[in-house]
Amino acid sequence: MNQSAVERRRSLHGEWTSRLGFILALAGSAVGLGNIWRFPYLAGENGGGAFVLVYLLFVFGIGLPIMLAEVLIGRRGRRNPVTTMQLLGEEEAGSSGWRVVGGLGVVTGFLILSFYSVIAGWTLAYIIESASGAFTDAGAETVGAVFNSLVGNELVTGAWHTLFMVLTVGVVVLGVEQGLERAVRIIMPALIALLLVLLGYSMTSGSFLEGVEFLFEPRFDELSANAILDALGQAFFTLSVGMGAVMTYGAYLPENESIPRSCFAVAAVDTSVALLAGLVIFPIVFANGLDPASGPGLVFQSLPLAFGQMPGGAFVATLFFVLLTFAAWTSAISLMEPAVAYFMETRGFDRPRAALLVGGTIWLLGFLTVMSFGAWSEARFWKGTWFDNIDFLSNNVFLPLGGLAIVVFAGWIMAHNSTADELDPQAGRGYRVWRWTARYVAPVAVALVLLNAVGIF
Ligand code: PHE
Repeated sequence: MNQSAVERRRSLHGEWTSRLGFILALAGSAVGLGNIWRFPYLAGENGGGAFVLVYLLFVFGIGLPIMLAEVLIGRRGRRNPVTTMQLLGEEEAGSSGWRVVGGLGVVTGFLILSFYSVIAGWTLAYIIESASGAFTDAGAETVGAVFNSLVGNELVTGAWHTLFMVLTVGVVVLGVEQGLERAVRIIMPALIALLLVLLGYSMTSGSFLEGVEFLFEPRFDELSANAILDALGQAFFTLSVGMGAVMTYGAYLPENESIPRSCFAVAAVDTSVALLAGLVIFPIVFANGLDPASGPGLVFQSLPLAFGQMPGGAFVATLFFVLLTFAAWTSAISLMEPAVAYFMETRGFDRPRAALLVGGTIWLLGFLTVMSFGAWSEARFWKGTWFDNIDFLSNNVFLPLGGLAIVVFAGWIMAHNSTADELDPQAGRGYRVWRWTARYVAPVAVALVLLNAVGIF
């Protein structure tokens, strides 16, 4: 390691207190709306089984190696993604141009959080709906009406979006380490426990097998190029990789902690939560004659049916949406942190100012998503509504491109010694598997999926 790298070895913003702290923060970033809101509706839109299988392959074959690459780059650079990519680019390849990759990530974070916060606003609204008993004994029609009248009311969804951004900026102002560790330690087990309770319910819904079949029986003839691209985008989104969030958290990871084991644990937990959510939601969807391909409203229109029929359902529902909001919150923080670190480190902003600037911009941008579920829901261009476009651009284009660049950098540009030095030196064969995947499997697979989606291949 050369001199500049040695001097850089400490994080500028404090460090996680332990490996567990890092795992918790990373899990907090990964597990969120992506697992419980986005995965089920994408699986539903893309026909289930085959999509899910491809998604799982992508998570472990592409997303996980990229996650390792991001963490190791982050810990080696110890700066925000832009500066980190610049420094390491100069160090490893004599070129500062790699900073563009970090820049793309920062921009992608703005775009993603702008819609993420609006959906998180829906979960906030659903806490109140649940607590007030709106779903008690409600049928599919009532539940659908509650959803439609919520998203159709831009003033209300805009207000919830505002509250969610205030909460997120609030935590980011305080600094991300300690509160996050403590919060995730409670939220994550509670969320999983509640999903298991719901799983018990969906097993008795009468359509459990239908749901399982839908999720796990691959029907490859239904797998379009677009479904494969959706699976790729979702693999990146759910693991928080491709935009520097993981890189930024890696920058706060103490020197001597093992990267591979932490990442594997996070990917495993993240996948379990998504599959569990699917196993809960689809039986309810089929038992109630809902359309699995109904889009972003799916979880909000299916789960309340289950809550409405169970004893103590109003309480369970309230708890569920509280936990989901918390899960979204810990993800939103990680979406903001790269940009905030960037403004602090390169523009000399203090944390509150950086957080207000970044949060304020994202907040304004979010109103376009608010409108696109309201008055503009019929306005179509390119991929569909504003939300469809921003979602497609950030998750299916920018995250894969960012991830591709990151993994190529780690696999091909960085010296063998540099990466070996960051990943467990003891990892032995594990390291070789990672390097091989990072050099060949992940880049080739991402490139093929992208080319396939634009019809070139
Ligand atoms: N992984 C988060 C989720 O599944 C979303 C996210 C994406 C967070 C990208 C950070 C970066 O909800």
